[in-house]
Amino acid sequence: MSTNQPTKYLLQPPADAQCLLAPAKLNLDLRIIGRRSDGYHLLESIFTLISLYDRLWLRVNSSGEIKLHTPIENVDPQQDLTVRAATLLRQQSGKKLGADIWLQKNIPMGGGLGGGSSDAALVLMALNQLWQLNLNQMQLQQLGLQLGADVPFFIFGQTAFAQGIGEKLSQIQIPKQWYVIIKPPVHVSTPKIFAHKDLTRNSTPRIMPDFQARQHWRNDMQKVVTAEYPEVKNALNILANFGKPMMSGSGSCVFLAFADEDTAQAVYNQVSNAHQAYCVASLNKHPFYK
Ligand code: C5P
Repeated sequence: MSTNQPTKYLLQPPADAQCLLAPAKLNLDLRIIGRRSDGYHLLESIFTLISLYDRLWLRVNSSGEIKLHTPIENVDPQQDLTVRAATLLRQQSGKKLGADIWLQKNIPMGGGLGGGSSDAALVLMALNQLWQLNLNQMQLQQLGLQLGADVPFFIFGQTAFAQGIGEKLSQIQIPKQWYVIIKPPVHVSTPKIFAHKDLTRNSTPRIMPDFQARQHWRNDMQKVVTAEYPEVKNALNILANFGKPMMSGSGSCVFLAFADEDTAQAVYNQVSNAHQAYCVASLNKHPFYK
C-alpha cells in the first residue's frame, strides 16, 4: 500500500495484546433499487476488501470492563463502534466479560471506505474467539447488522454481491485489481445523501453482476454527492484524466481500478503530490481468516 498520509503515532499497547488488521472496502458498483417502510434503502452492491488497514489491539480482562484506550477526538468512547460491538457481544453472551481495546485509525473517516464498520466487525470476530463464545459466522453477521449495514460484509470477509440493506451476501469472483483512491478534503454525511430528494431509488434489480460488464458499473449516490460536494466532483475530474473513476459508498472517496500494479503506482505518483491519495490492492480474504 502506498499513501502520502503522515505516519500516525500511538500510545503503545502492551506486548500481550493481540494485534489485528481491519481492512477497508470499496463499492465497485452500487445501485439503489427501493426503500423499506423503515426508511432504509434496498441496495445491490459489489463490495471488495482492500489493502488499507486500521490496526486493532485486543486484550481480555477479568474486571468485566470494556475500555477503549485510544478514544477518537470528539467521539464519546461509549459511542465508538468498537466499544458498541464489544458491548453488544457481551450482552449476547450473558456473561460478565471484559476487554481492553487500542485502535490506530489509518482508514480515512467519512470517506465511504467502511473503516468504522470494519473495526466493529473485527471486534465481534476476535472477541468471539477470545471470549470463547463459539458464535458462527452467520450469527456474528446478524449481530453486526445491528451496528451498521456494512458490518456483515466485513464478517463475510471476501468479495461479495450484497443485497437487502447490505446483509444478504453472495461470494463473487473478481480478478485481483489495484486501485488509486483520492480522499477529497470533505466529510460526506451518509444519512443526508440517503435522505436526498433527488437520489435514484429505482434502479433495476439484477441476479448477479458480471465482471466482463464492469464498464457499466456505477454508483447511484454519485450524482447527488457531486452536486452537494464540489470537492468530490473535483477529485473525480482529476482521476478522469487516467480512466473512468467512481465514488465508493456515499463518498467522499473516489477511485480508479487497474489490472496491473505498475500502472496504478504510476498514476498514484502523479496525483499524490497534490491530493490525499492511496494505492492499494484488492484482497481475496479478510486477514482474520488467513
Ligand atoms: O448502517 P449505517 O450506519 O451505515 O447507515 C447510516 C444511515 O444511512 C442510516 O441511518 C440510514 O439513514 C442510511 N441508510 C439507508 N439504507 C441503507 C444503509 C444506510 O437508508 N441500506
